[in-house]
Amino acid sequence: MSASANVTETIESHVTFDSIFLSYGTREVFRDLACEMLARRVTVLMGASGAGKSTLLRMIGGLQRPDRGHISVAGQALQELDEPGLARVRKRLGMLFQNGALLDSMTIFDNVALPLREHSSLTEAEIATAVRERLDAVGLEGVENLLPGELSGGMLRRAALARAIVEDPEILLCDEPFSGLDPPNVERIEALLTQLNRERGLTVIVTSHHMASSLRMGHRLVLLRNNTAISGTPEELATSDDSEIRDFLGADGVAYLKTLSSGGTSE
Ligand SMILES: Nc1ncnc2c1ncn2[C@@H]1O[C@H](COP(=O)(O)OP(=O)(O)O)[C@@H](O)[C@H]1O
Ligand SMILES: [Mg+2]
Repeated sequence: MSASANVTETIESHVTFDSIFLSYGTREVFRDLACEMLARRVTVLMGASGAGKSTLLRMIGGLQRPDRGHISVAGQALQELDEPGLARVRKRLGMLFQNGALLDSMTIFDNVALPLREHSSLTEAEIATAVRERLDAVGLEGVENLLPGELSGGMLRRAALARAIVEDPEILLCDEPFSGLDPPNVERIEALLTQLNRERGLTVIVTSHHMASSLRMGHRLVLLRNNTAISGTPEELATSDDSEIRDFLGADGVAYLKTLSSGGTSE
């Protein structure tokens, strides 16, 4: 289809932030921030509470505009788009937001089907096929007729993930997908996000406080600090002499990254 049907895969930027400024009243969040998220890669946004991680994700979805600067999502310059244009960009995004809980009064099936019922003209039979495929993909079978209140926290997070991918997005945005989960469920969600990236070629953008899984799963890390961003691969950051980076990751983070970059990963 595209001109890039070459033998070697080119890794283009899927989301680009350039010269971003944003303040809420006197609270400055971003000052001349620049970063990018590569297509078909996993990028983890890290930063202290209040650093602007959720705000950055909202800006990708056009839910928050910067005071100044340029944001490009899948080749579209967001500042040039009106609301219908932004809605078309949003159709290419899957969003797993922190407060994006499932609706309690609806079955898991109906929750996952909801975006398709609202935005597509698929028949009920086609919707059922899509919902079952996504529930299978997140390892949830036989729960279609249950209510959210009947599922564990880990299962609920997976059901929300199934809903986020039900419209076949190109880019998956996940705000704190590990929060509140116990270690086995953190690993399970981490494995699922990695699998969705590998098997479906999804561009995955995750915010996380969870140092170990962020470092394990991120092809690239974006560290939000002092109103701006520092980006790199885990290897680049592990071997950086930059005192800000070492400070940010802490001794544990740097030591952990070194174990990963010395051959601890499977690829
Ligand atoms: N709608 C808003 N109005 C005012 N301040 C906000 C709003 N949204 C976020 N902020 C502020 O912007 C900063 C970044 O917030 P946020 O993106 O939620 O950080 P994080 O997700 O990294 O914890 C915080 O200081 C927060 O209080
Ligand atoms: Mg947040």
